[in-house]
Amino acid sequence: MAFGFLRPVSRLGAILVVVALTAGCSWVIGDTPQSTVHPSTEAARMIQSVYATITWWMVAIFVVVEGALIYAILRFRRRPTDEGVPEQIHGNTPLEVGWTLVPLVIVIAFIFPSLRTTCALAKAAPEDALQVKVVGKRWWFEFEYPEYGIITANELHLPAGRMANLELTSDNVIHSFWVPRLSGKRDLVPGRAQHIWFTPEEPGWYEGQCAELCGASHAFMQFRVKVETPEDFERWVKAQQQPAQIDTTSPGFQAFQQNACFTCHSIQGSPFTFARIGPNLTHVASRTTLAGAVLENTPEVMRAWIRNAGQFKPGHAKKGRQEPDLMWNFEHVPDEQIDALVSFLHGLE
Ligand code: CUA
Repeated sequence: MAFGFLRPVSRLGAILVVVALTAGCSWVIGDTPQSTVHPSTEAARMIQSVYATITWWMVAIFVVVEGALIYAILRFRRRPTDEGVPEQIHGNTPLEVGWTLVPLVIVIAFIFPSLRTTCALAKAAPEDALQVKVVGKRWWFEFEYPEYGIITANELHLPAGRMANLELTSDNVIHSFWVPRLSGKRDLVPGRAQHIWFTPEEPGWYEGQCAELCGASHAFMQFRVKVETPEDFERWVKAQQQPAQIDTTSPGFQAFQQNACFTCHSIQGSPFTFARIGPNLTHVASRTTLAGAVLENTPEVMRAWIRNAGQFKPGHAKKGRQEPDLMWNFEHVPDEQIDALVSFLHGLE
């Protein structure tokens, strides 16, 4: 095995170092896209402070317990002059009571910082917060801005400095909304609206992930949050509010009709504006990603995705069996039609 050349003690040390590094110690080794220890909102900082408080308590407890253990090992070790079996002790009431009560007190004490933060984060968001409805789908996120009449997917745009109040729900199984750098986790539960709110501060991209096991492509159910300056956000809103400019006689739009893409996907500005099963495609070319933010949105990738979604995300089309709410296989469609469709969709900016 690796480290076989080291002495046992050094080998153990090397293994511990590797475990510590691979177990997500980004606190120590720097930033990572889904790091929980580099918060960038007040809500995320409150959560991190609970994490930090409890971690330092645990470190203190570890030092005391291990210190006592090492002291006992050294102080009471067998010496060359020792003979026979040491004195045998059966039970020590003060000790038993002590090591039952002390951990109990510690566990109870842990409740306070987490309860305080939980209560602070459970308050209702102010009325003037930006409302966004988030719907968990298989396996992607839909974002609707009722205030602006926009429906989009995979990429949530938010203005810096304005509180975002997200209403979370699902139309299938339970998912969980999680952007580690912006907030804690909250489940998207069918038939029930839950909320999560935070105020983004720094413009930039923030990576999000479904955090509830929701089926074969759970790990591929991602999303991205783009925090923008208020001016950039206004510009994005204006662009997204425009209906798509469509030439209904173009081969691409014909392919969209012939293959019944409109059964699941809507395009505002076309005759097909009501389907909510798949992502709304009105401005699909303005997004950087596809398929639950796991694929780059290029014409080549989009082409491969339409042909066979299952090659990228398990649980999608299986041979002879298409699930109604999942992206189908279009392997039978002639190349010219797919090419026209992809260039049509990539024109929807
Ligand atoms: Cu949705 Cu995991």
